[in-house]
Amino acid sequence: MAEAPILDVQGLKTYFFTRTGVVKAVDGVSFTLHPGETLGIVGESGSGKSMTALSLMRLVPQPAGQIVEGRILFEGEDLVQKTQSEMQHIRGRDICMILQDPMTSLNPVFTVGNQVVETVRQGAPDRSIGLRDRAIDLLSKVKIASPEIRFSNFPHQMSGGMRQRVVGAIAIAGAPKVLIADEATTSLDATIQYQYLALLKELQEETGMAIIFITHDFGIVAKMCDRVAVMYAGKVAEIADVRDLFNSPAHPYTEALMRSVPNVDEDVDFLYSIEGQPPALDDLPPGCTFAPRCPYVFDRCHEEFPDLVNVGSGHSATCWKLEEGG
Ligand SMILES: Nc1ncnc2c1ncn2[C@@H]1O[C@H](COP(=O)(O)OP(=O)(O)OP(=O)(O)O)[C@@H](O)[C@H]1O
Ligand code: SF4
Ligand SMILES: [Mg+2]
Repeated sequence: MAEAPILDVQGLKTYFFTRTGVVKAVDGVSFTLHPGETLGIVGESGSGKSMTALSLMRLVPQPAGQIVEGRILFEGEDLVQKTQSEMQHIRGRDICMILQDPMTSLNPVFTVGNQVVETVRQGAPDRSIGLRDRAIDLLSKVKIASPEIRFSNFPHQMSGGMRQRVVGAIAIAGAPKVLIADEATTSLDATIQYQYLALLKELQEETGMAIIFITHDFGIVAKMCDRVAVMYAGKVAEIADVRDLFNSPAHPYTEALMRSVPNVDEDVDFLYSIEGQPPALDDLPPGCTFAPRCPYVFDRCHEEFPDLVNVGSGHSATCWKLEEGG
């Protein structure tokens, strides 16, 4: 892609400093994201997907969590260097995040209308249309039926799917350039889930926003994503175009993930079918972190962490096997 990336993440490290040790939640993550592109982030529970997303938003839980290294270039400016008040302008306007549980994003004591209005007010205010009308327009954009009536509902008066749509409306209120969806559809049933995904795609086509899609579901990856980053123990094990990743996975971990997915069009939780456990992030083994579970492990794997190897256009993985030509 010739266009400059909207987001260029370089060597990002986010650690937690706990009483029992340093948890390397994000340990040298790099990727780029272009306007209009959808990048999937997949990986087992605890691999650092959410912490990567929260780092981009500069919302890592404080004070234990710290971005200790790396750059997050958004339109060329390093977000790591921004103050929290500068970030407040960027969050909600340029970069938005939709979380898994809509109840944690919505305030139970305010009507949904109020909450959408509040976001519209904070975003670039267009005085030509009233705030209420703009909020109702947004609710109808995310396909909430009878938005004028729903405007006065409290979150608990809506179904889970509707609440997630409201969160979606809030997220797109400021016409963000980057939307991060962290397991945003997990709590929805299959039909509502696919309607919601179709809606996100539609909005993306309309606005050209870039999306980061964090999910456990390879069916969603296949349908939604252009490129995929596979995370393992705080690092990107492999990154590739979605087709290349499915057709020719280079990293043994990705290979194992693919084997555990019988059919990418099915909703499958792949997490439990790979033998062994990921390593504790505060006690990483020397060398390749996948070595204890890897069927191809050899001596060098235990000595140092593998370099990132290019295996094709825009396709790279961290594995010694690739360097040795295996
Ligand atoms: N406040 C904290 N203190 C210490 N460690 C933390 C804290 N929050 C998260 N971690 C650790 O950071 C690591 C990465 O967590 P993260 O939430 O990014 O995982 P994830 O890939 O999003 O997993 P899931 O698929 O379960 O959502 C985990 O090992 C987790 O235990
Ligand atoms: S570096 Fe070695 S242990 Fe790690 S994934 Fe590659 S072959 Fe397996
Ligand atoms: Mg998570």
